[in-house]
Amino acid sequence: MSNSTIAQEIAKRRTFAIISHPDAGKTTITEKVLLHGQAIQSAGTVKGRGSGQHAKSDWMEMEKERGISVTTSVMQFPYNGCLVNLLDTPGHEDFSEDTYRTLTAVDSCLMVIDAAKGVEDRTRKLMEVTRLRDTPIITFMNKLDRDIRDPMELLDEVETELNIMCAPVTWPIGSGKLFKGVYHLHRDETILYQSGQGHTIQDVRIIKGLSNPELDEAVGDGLAEQLREELELVMGASNEFDQELFLSGELCPVFFGTALGNFGVDHMLQGLTQWAPAPQPRQTHEREVTADDDKFSGFVFKIQANMDPRHRDRIAFMRIVSGKYTQGMKMKHVRIGKQVSISDAVTFMAGDRERAEEAYAGDIIGLHNHGTIQIGDTFTQGEDLKFSGIPNFAPELFRRIRLRDPLKQKQLLKGLVQLSEEGAVQVFRPLDNNDLIVGAVGVLQFDVVVARLKAEYNVDALYESVNVSTARWVYGSDAKKLDEFQRKVSANLALDGGDNLTYIAPTMVNLNLTQERYPDIQFSKTREH
Ligand code: G4P
Repeated sequence: MSNSTIAQEIAKRRTFAIISHPDAGKTTITEKVLLHGQAIQSAGTVKGRGSGQHAKSDWMEMEKERGISVTTSVMQFPYNGCLVNLLDTPGHEDFSEDTYRTLTAVDSCLMVIDAAKGVEDRTRKLMEVTRLRDTPIITFMNKLDRDIRDPMELLDEVETELNIMCAPVTWPIGSGKLFKGVYHLHRDETILYQSGQGHTIQDVRIIKGLSNPELDEAVGDGLAEQLREELELVMGASNEFDQELFLSGELCPVFFGTALGNFGVDHMLQGLTQWAPAPQPRQTHEREVTADDDKFSGFVFKIQANMDPRHRDRIAFMRIVSGKYTQGMKMKHVRIGKQVSISDAVTFMAGDRERAEEAYAGDIIGLHNHGTIQIGDTFTQGEDLKFSGIPNFAPELFRRIRLRDPLKQKQLLKGLVQLSEEGAVQVFRPLDNNDLIVGAVGVLQFDVVVARLKAEYNVDALYESVNVSTARWVYGSDAKKLDEFQRKVSANLALDGGDNLTYIAPTMVNLNLTQERYPDIQFSKTREH
């Protein structure tokens, strides 16, 4: 295949994730996106209540209901001449590290906002994360079939609270029972909404031009007039779409619609495929790697256990940063310095795991992991590179984990180490005793871990409180001083799942005092993989 064909393939890729507050409609919109991408034949009601269908991304739910893992955390589908990769961010209530790391693997984000509520907590937090890399954002104001807040006010709130300019691309005509559709500012046409068509791709009625009398007839005089007045205001007061400002993360195009009613999702997808960036460069400790580098490279951002119940394997998700993957190719697993031959990577076309014959920069491939791959690992065609910016966070919550059946200690440790490799939780083994301490960033992680230990490792575990309130990874360049530190404070030292030395402090005061006492030791809140 010639270089120009590879360049064309790469240019087609759009890799994105959805960020939103729980209940804003991420699952529903994922389902409709897949419907438009023809990745599923018909969308069930949300989470399939009634029809037995599920949005494919909601794996925790499915796992609960069916008792197996059928996760599909990457979905690839063609749309509008592009090949779109949608990466699922975990649906837990907590902000999780997994979500953070998934956001390092995308080139743009769709922010879904419940238009009755406006900007909510989690959206704020996730937006902060996307600001670290100035990821371009597209906004979808959802639930227009309900009474929403004043659209102008919603844009204001996004601008002031999230510090990003808004450029409305569509504008709503009424909401709730009176929701009639949207006016598309770029196309100068009104697209009319029909309720009750959420499961299918609808034939919509389109009215050209804002002054078209058909508009008055279709939505009623009152609403048509109101629309014209509002638009005059909007055009005067809000920003116009600007591709450069969008790409630098300073401005987001805004769409209005209802995911449940499958209305407006296609406008958003058209915007996304047209404007969102093709695969972006990534930084390594050595140099920047661009998508059009001749040689293949990629990094692992997520590991997930037991996706296929028949194989009980673990899949390492790799974002390809540059070049092309072909089945059977040799890659260098940089951290362990070995050449490996990858013959059975999986792709995620149309939501099903298939064997990847080839994949390009921007794509995600799944590698079968038998314990050698860790989050953050870099794979190349020989060069010693290490992609940066894929951290672990020091946990803020701690529990001692104990077995109901003491004979299963080995299984418990294996499970915990694997779950920590995956980033589901962190595990600490104190140097001075045989405790196992589990650390999490959000409280829900604890429940997930116990449930998964039982389901996947057949281990019955429970938690006890433990006198740990914070943890820091510790480093020291002076071996003698590090050694002395280790001897003096060994009661507060532990090894994490990857055998890295950690200081576990009973209180913040204790941590501060220890830091003062040992100025040559570095205490770090994050650990780069
Ligand atoms: P999430 O993944 O972001 O958490 O949200 P999800 O799609 O599960 O949607 C949350 C609830 O909001 C669901 O209600 C869903 O039907 C509803 N919803 C999503 N989009 C729209 C929309 O455009 N209009 C309206 N009216 N509702 C929408 P649910 O199934 O009843 O779940 P729950 O409320 O019992 O949790």
